[in-house]
Amino acid sequence: MKAMVVTDQAAGRGGVKLVERPEPQASINDVLIKIHASGFTGDELTWPSTWTDRVGRDRTPSIPGHELAGVVTALGYGTTGLSIGQRVFGLTDWYRDGTLAEYVAVEARDLAPLPSDVDFTVAAALVMPGLTAWQGLFEHGRLTAGQSVLVHGAAGVVGSMASQLARDAGAYVIGTGHGSARQTALDFGAQEFVDLDKDALEDIGEVDLVFDVLGGDIAKRSAGVVRAGGTLVTVTGPTEARPSHGQVIDFVVVSDRAQLGELVQRVRNGRLRTNIGNLASLDDAVAAFNRTERIRGKTIIRVHP
Ligand SMILES: NC(=O)c1ccc[n+]([C@@H]2O[C@H](COP(=O)([O-])OP(=O)(O)OC[C@H]3O[C@@H](n4cnc5c(N)ncnc54)[C@H](OP(=O)(O)O)[C@@H]3O)[C@@H](O)[C@H]2O)c1
Repeated sequence: MKAMVVTDQAAGRGGVKLVERPEPQASINDVLIKIHASGFTGDELTWPSTWTDRVGRDRTPSIPGHELAGVVTALGYGTTGLSIGQRVFGLTDWYRDGTLAEYVAVEARDLAPLPSDVDFTVAAALVMPGLTAWQGLFEHGRLTAGQSVLVHGAAGVVGSMASQLARDAGAYVIGTGHGSARQTALDFGAQEFVDLDKDALEDIGEVDLVFDVLGGDIAKRSAGVVRAGGTLVTVTGPTEARPSHGQVIDFVVVSDRAQLGELVQRVRNGRLRTNIGNLASLDDAVAAFNRTERIRGKTIIRVHP
């Protein structure tokens, strides 16, 4: 099969290649997936899991990309819950070969059924930002109707999902970003917008939840607007931000079949839309992965039509 691989950490993006690789085998509780659409995160080459397995052994050449929509073509020993020919979507293990390939072996529990009326491209674009936003808002942030949330990077891939889901859940959404992102953030559901280059964050008053995708000083400044008993959730790793009377949580997204189901249902009934900025084929995936100019929105690789 065709697959995009990384072999040499020192070579960085220059070491990313499209090659022929053996088709993976479905192990115990796995399914083998023919990939129709695949997604990746721009900074995967900086993740330890791209280069080593869970005990630190070199696992190169490795295949990046962990978001997928496709069709089950084989079941591993003992796999239940999914069937051959079924449309699915989900997030794959960070420490296994990923989805910038024609086929991938994935644990069945990391996937959810994909209804026939949802396009593979849309499903692939929903996985990572949708799960991240859901878990940050509702699992870690415990957001409920009537509460307020400050969503950083609200026009971005994760922020645009978080804004829509929070608004849909009945929360009051304040989005942030550069000034040029204002209209996009409002279109994705923010009711107010803070231009981080010009406006004072402190002017918004207090919020129940900060959903942070930017980290650094912006996360630290945001701690000051968390209401007593509130939460600052970040996806940027450990942070020095400390709300004086609230909690801080940094987390890495995990796959979750029930949450994928909730997300796709919202897409089907028009309550949630993806933020896709670029579509490319697998043959063009190396160029798409290595792009230096800024692309707004998610890049999706169409692997099989
Ligand atoms: N922990 C996890 O599980 C997890 C999961 C998913 C993503 N992530 C991380 O989350 C981060 C965001 O991902 P994403 O895909 O949403 O990125 P993205 O689409 O680039 O969104 C970031 C948004 O924030 C804006 N922005 C960036 N820096 C800013 C600044 N200093 N001031 C104002 N606005 C700023 C960007 O504006 P411009 O477009 O104008 O630059 C963009 O609109 C990434 O670091 C990613 O690795 C973590």
